[in-house]
Amino acid sequence: MNHTTITEDELLSAHDGRAPRVLSGMQPSADSLHLGNYLGALVNWVKAQEDYDSFYFIPDMHAITVPHDPADLAERTRRTVAQYIAGGIDIEKSTLFVQSHVPEHAQLAWIMMCLTGFGEASRMTQFKDKSAKLGSDSVGVGLFTYPMLMAADILLYNPDAVPVGDDQKQHVELARDLAQRFNHRFGETFIVPKGLIRKDGARIYDLQDPTSKMSKSASSPNGLINILDEPKVIAKRIKSAVTDAGTEVSYDRQEKPGVSNLLEILSTVSDTSVETLVKEFEGKMYGHLKVAVADAVVERLEPIRKRTFELLEDPAELDRLLARGAEKARAVAAPVLADVYKKVGFLAPAGQAL
Ligand code: TYM
Repeated sequence: MNHTTITEDELLSAHDGRAPRVLSGMQPSADSLHLGNYLGALVNWVKAQEDYDSFYFIPDMHAITVPHDPADLAERTRRTVAQYIAGGIDIEKSTLFVQSHVPEHAQLAWIMMCLTGFGEASRMTQFKDKSAKLGSDSVGVGLFTYPMLMAADILLYNPDAVPVGDDQKQHVELARDLAQRFNHRFGETFIVPKGLIRKDGARIYDLQDPTSKMSKSASSPNGLINILDEPKVIAKRIKSAVTDAGTEVSYDRQEKPGVSNLLEILSTVSDTSVETLVKEFEGKMYGHLKVAVADAVVERLEPIRKRTFELLEDPAELDRLLARGAEKARAVAAPVLADVYKKVGFLAPAGQAL
């Protein structure tokens, strides 16, 4: 075991008696989730909800840390919920909610900001990358304090583990540091959570630039597979994926990043090890691999796309589900925040317990 991440077996045995708890979220910052979100996170969430007490939410407050269109945000929030459900999140098994519906996130975030060093926050790589891209004049302070809001998201629920892709590892580590710091200064309060980062699918790369992670902010849409894309768009993008010199289908992240990415996608989607796939494709051309990946991805995503659009036909029902989820989430978050307020020394309002 390393210190900051946990495997599923370790998690299952983490607590005698009570089901271990997991929590995670995906930003509603695009019209569709992409294949990286799906394979790096959602697939694992769906598995996790079978064994763990699971909390999944939509971090809409994080989505306004970069310029956004207000008209799009509410719609994208609903679309994200619909994709969670269509992708397999079951609201009977998991607590599903929107971050801004639970005001305790913003309240605890302030306390996390007061615990974080300026230098410590300046070292977060996501902030450094995004601010370099956008230029310092267009970067808001919210982008800087984003990881402290994320720490609050996590710590409010005292999860044992946070299932994410490996790009979020540094943020989970900050949440761990802040939990430890708070516990040290104010007394045992938070469980120190671990990242639950599976080996398969932890990082899916851009199809046109297979050394960069697949991301909604990629320079060209051609490298991106969106869950809600039409099957023929998905197939076309996979078939036009950049491959590498040579002809042999083999796995080598350094020398063959394009082919390795396709192998990893196929391995995760088909639940077959990369070694088995390499044997299967022995003597075959890259084109065969691309067809197999396109078919497998389309087959997996098509029912999710259809179900998402069905769910979106009844936005009022989605809103009702979210209201129920927020109520369940607040029942956990409010006592944790009250305990924190008390421990930092905030005076209770007259006649009220904190
Ligand atoms: P976000 O919205 O960027 O991504 C959501 C999830 O998708 C994973 N992911 C990937 N996995 C594999 N390959 C890729 N190319 C890829 N791209 C994205 C991410 O690792 C993540 O698990 N800060 C978070 C949202 C957040 C959060 C939280 C997560 C806010 N509060 C509390 C966990 C707990 C984010 O921006 O993820």
